[in-house]
Amino acid sequence: MAMATSTSAIPAAEQAELIELSKKAAAYQAVKDHLDPAAHRLVGIGSGSTVVYVVDAIAALDRDATSRMLFFPTGDQSRGLIEAAGLPLGSVSQLPVAAKLDVCFDGADEVDEDLNLIKGGGACLFQEKIVATASRRFVCVADYRKLSPRLGTQWKQGIPIEVLPLAAKRVLSELENLGALGPQIRQGLPKKAGPVVTDNSMWLIDAPFKPLLLPRDKANGVQGGAGEDGLWTVDALADQLIRIPGIVEHGLFYGKNGLEVKAGEGGAQKPVA
Ligand code: 5RP
Repeated sequence: MAMATSTSAIPAAEQAELIELSKKAAAYQAVKDHLDPAAHRLVGIGSGSTVVYVVDAIAALDRDATSRMLFFPTGDQSRGLIEAAGLPLGSVSQLPVAAKLDVCFDGADEVDEDLNLIKGGGACLFQEKIVATASRRFVCVADYRKLSPRLGTQWKQGIPIEVLPLAAKRVLSELENLGALGPQIRQGLPKKAGPVVTDNSMWLIDAPFKPLLLPRDKANGVQGGAGEDGLWTVDALADQLIRIPGIVEHGLFYGKNGLEVKAGEGGAQKPVA
């Protein structure tokens, strides 16, 4: 995988511009490559600032084609984007259980070499996972900053975990038992004091762990990975997290076939796994 080159010598304003260009380039390329206006009818729309460009790219397509599609949001932000773009709005709750979305476009906070993801920086991971797993194909749209060899190397805030508020303190303690390094209940901005409340009326915990091993590291003889010395593989940790009462979902997205990472200018692309 081609990795991002360092941009630390570039002034902050130019870096911000480069990041926006990269997000936009990745989003337009992802829509061009993975949305087939002639064939696709049901499309998932993730959350975050990169997805804004995905919706822009879709809104720029032929209106006859997009008016025959339904767009499924992953929270209040993405519902707002779909509506503002004048695209038809769907709802997973009305989708027959056997039906699959053709494709889902979403961002990520960090992407490893095996295309495992940390998601939830924007607090929408629960609905994002529901829409992602209801889709035949998940296209991750990520700029060059998001790529890393091991999850937890770049996104140091920790794995976002959605929890039932009354269980939050107990979950913090369980996470420490698993080796989390100072997990915290996510707080709102100073003006909105108190815990962040998700679109599902839950709270979030951000749980930093040592960088997560890839499942194939174990097969290659790397020691640890089942919690020894606080070291986990992505799949082993995901499996433990979902067993903790009070955790409704976590932001580790892993092992999904057909995941594709797209990065824009100055970034990297990885073909479908
Ligand atoms: C929200 C998410 C977002 O996709 C993730 O935080 C990336 O956001 P951005 O595109 O703004 O960097 O998982 O819950």
